[in-house]
Amino acid sequence: MEKANSAKEAARLIEDGMVIGIGSGSTVEIFLNELGKRIKEEELEIWGVPSSYQSHMLAVENGITVTDLIQFEELDLCVDGADQVDENLNCIKGKGGALLREKIVAQAAEEVIIIVDSRKIVDVLDERVPVEVFPFAYGNAVKEIKKLGGEAVLRESDRKLGACITDNGNFILDVDFGRIEDPEGLECRINCIAGVFENGIFPRRLIDRVIVGTKDGVRVLRN
Ligand code: A5P
Repeated sequence: MEKANSAKEAARLIEDGMVIGIGSGSTVEIFLNELGKRIKEEELEIWGVPSSYQSHMLAVENGITVTDLIQFEELDLCVDGADQVDENLNCIKGKGGALLREKIVAQAAEEVIIIVDSRKIVDVLDERVPVEVFPFAYGNAVKEIKKLGGEAVLRESDRKLGACITDNGNFILDVDFGRIEDPEGLECRINCIAGVFENGIFPRRLIDRVIVGTKDGVRVLRN
């Protein structure tokens, strides 16, 4: 499985004593389970700042000492998945709704590694962009996003009636911008809307390495 190949490669890069940012999603879950095996076998001590309750619980299960950005202001490394990556290493993230904390741990890390399978690599980003919005700001945010050329849809919960609520108590808007020719510019313009906490465009300035899982191994893209 391609994503397992990328996750295993990232788990091999973690060194004893490191403090890591932990992304979210199914590829990160494989990464944490692989890292957990190494922690047990090699008796490693790894500290981690998780970006969601999902990764928090998986980190605990796998023997990582969970910490935060109060204890550490800088992380050695951050490992995370992505929904789409272009050849310049700009990414779209946030299908799992954890983009706000994911962007914080990415910015706090000295090096950011993205782990994906090869189907996620595209020429130009065109996935819907998740935007985390303070619920009070909902209508205005939809209107302002329209001015930027985006069609926003409120993400609904698949477990109950109504909106999907993030780990931070906010709404997620999934926004169709069509082809995104200027990811960095769009990222900034969305974040200028009042009540928007963060959006799922992770521009190349945040990303150091993308490990792309292939059928036989991995391909590494570097910034
Ligand atoms: C979580 O909010 C997302 O950013 C995930 O990192 C992204 O959706 C990739 O998830 P998978 O590894 O499950 O595809």
